[in-house]
Amino acid sequence: MEKLKVGVVGCGLISKLRHIPAYKRLKDLDVMAVCDLNEELAKNTAKEFDIPNFYTDTSKMFDEEDLDIVDICVPPQIHAAIAIEAMESGAHVIMEKPMATKVSDCKEMIRVSKNNNVKLSVVHNDLFHSPFIKAKELVSNGEIGDFRGIKIFLSTPKHYMIDLKDHWYHKLPGGVIGETGPHISYMSLEFLDNIQNVDVFAKSFLNYSWAPYDDFRIEIEGENGFSSVALAYTTDYWAARVDIIGTKAMLQIDLNSMLIIKHDLSELSYVPIAKQTLSSLRQRLGNTISKTANVISGRQRIGTEIVVEKFAESILNGTPLPVTAEEGLETTRLMEMIVANYQEKYNLS
Ligand SMILES: NC(=O)c1ccc[n+]([C@@H]2O[C@H](COP(=O)([O-])OP(=O)(O)OC[C@H]3O[C@@H](n4cnc5c(N)ncnc54)[C@H](O)[C@@H]3O)[C@@H](O)[C@H]2O)c1
Repeated sequence: MEKLKVGVVGCGLISKLRHIPAYKRLKDLDVMAVCDLNEELAKNTAKEFDIPNFYTDTSKMFDEEDLDIVDICVPPQIHAAIAIEAMESGAHVIMEKPMATKVSDCKEMIRVSKNNNVKLSVVHNDLFHSPFIKAKELVSNGEIGDFRGIKIFLSTPKHYMIDLKDHWYHKLPGGVIGETGPHISYMSLEFLDNIQNVDVFAKSFLNYSWAPYDDFRIEIEGENGFSSVALAYTTDYWAARVDIIGTKAMLQIDLNSMLIIKHDLSELSYVPIAKQTLSSLRQRLGNTISKTANVISGRQRIGTEIVVEKFAESILNGTPLPVTAEEGLETTRLMEMIVANYQEKYNLS
């Protein structure tokens, strides 16, 4: 069987860290070309990953290469334009989050994918990390009782984002929340139904002229519960934690160490608390041992790899997409609500 031919647009951080290595591990695909406006970067990336061709212009790449898949790893503001051009050239398209910065762009992308009979998907990577998948399974099996809400804490180190004065992050709708916000948006949408309200609270600790606020709390109200979010950009560390609250138990997920712990403390006294500590220790050890075993046996895979593989399978075998374009659109719709509330409350528009 002929392998699927992949072209990657954008040779920056995420492309080299996650996407190209993910394709390189799959046997039914070949990365045939990369494209970046920065010629040196495109050339060096092709060399580093042993990719036959490199380009600085997407139109030229789409004309000259007969690509089955175009993977888009460029800033969000230009996802739509490149995706549309790629789909019109006949390629299936997958792109980094967010699908686009505007719902109207997502709608146009969906229209073009249908007209050209090609698949369109978005990398909502956190949904495919093993503890997140396990949590969804526990919630849907009723193991936490009735669902009441989730709490998400994401911390992006200062030096990585907010300190970078001229970076495109600051030019997104909502600034830095436009960059990490899509993660909390798609995670919230996995659990909440019919979101009608959002409320954003913002503070500035750093007082940077290029980033008016740098610490955020966001309340998202769904028909079946809340998502309470903390987005921090002023720390020195990464954090990606999700608590899922139910009437009988709560789940704590750590997406950095890939751990999940179930808490079901029913009485407030020393013995159960000690038991609880032991139980969480046992769960931590269990998790760590199985994680270590997975790493040793080479089975521990992260979200982006799984999404890319499922996308390829959906083209080869007609299986469902890992993330549908409609899910990408809903994530952008929620981001639009969050950004509108933030800009209105803080007079930023
Ligand atoms: N899932 C995650 O955890 C995660 C993490 C980081 C970034 N991202 C997403 O990945 C995407 C890229 O982010 P990044 O951090 O890799 O950005 P980056 O700035 O490191 O790289 C982007 C690259 O795109 C190139 N580029 C820009 N316009 C182009 C064009 N028209 N044609 C060809 N190349 C072009 C730039 O020259 C740059 O090298 C964004 O959508 C971002 O939100 C996702």
